[in-house]
Amino acid sequence: PLPPSFAQRLLAWFDVSGRHDLPWQHPRTPYRVWLSEIMLQQTQVKTAAPYFERFVQRLPTLRDLALAPLDDVLALWSGLGYYARARNLHAAARRCLEQHGGELPRDIDALTALPGIGRSTAAAIVSQAWNDRFAILDGNVKRVLSRYHGVDGWPGLPAVEKRLWSLADQHAADPLLPDSRLADYTQAQMDLGATLCTRSDPACVLCPLQDDCVARREGRVAELPTPKPG
Ligand code: ADE
Ligand code: SF4
Repeated sequence: PLPPSFAQRLLAWFDVSGRHDLPWQHPRTPYRVWLSEIMLQQTQVKTAAPYFERFVQRLPTLRDLALAPLDDVLALWSGLGYYARARNLHAAARRCLEQHGGELPRDIDALTALPGIGRSTAAAIVSQAWNDRFAILDGNVKRVLSRYHGVDGWPGLPAVEKRLWSLADQHAADPLLPDSRLADYTQAQMDLGATLCTRSDPACVLCPLQDDCVARREGRVAELPTPKPG
């Protein structure tokens, strides 16, 4: 029998050691997942969580957000920084009201057409909100994949990023990754990158990927991902 796949090992680890009590997971609606992903683009989970709770208490639906004055949205964002995120969030909600019947569209291209949503954020939304099979590639996942596969080169280079997307897509396409578990698979990757495969001094001895991680085998964990040149 084959050893468990990348996705299978990540899920088994996630079931025991992943984060299952994040506020946007209960309930995991498209609006709440979207809001959380925008907050988490530049803010740590611990900092974002209380802002998230206050935001959804005050503006519980996408429609409430779209109809709220921008100043109210900015006030709810106050302290989180990167205020373009709040402006984009508000503009995107208004566009959803005008063009998508007041709902977040369940379509990667329609999502990436909205302000503030790139390819990885769109994939994080549809995988977590609907269990759709799309790979994410944020900073955490770039670090995990460049180490696990021993990918050289700064991930900001288009050729390196393309290679990492291809690897992320291959893992997400794994037939041993159940259709019902794409949300958990997305969260598992973020949790692994945030808690074990950290930037400095990763906890490889606890990692579910340690047996065939190229960086670990070759003693190159500290060198990968390759830093920005210059
Ligand atoms: N960063 C972006 N999305 C995240 C999530 N769902 N959990 C933890 N960190 C994240
Ligand atoms: Fe990251 Fe270490 Fe796991 Fe490799 S073994 S994926 S370097 S934590």
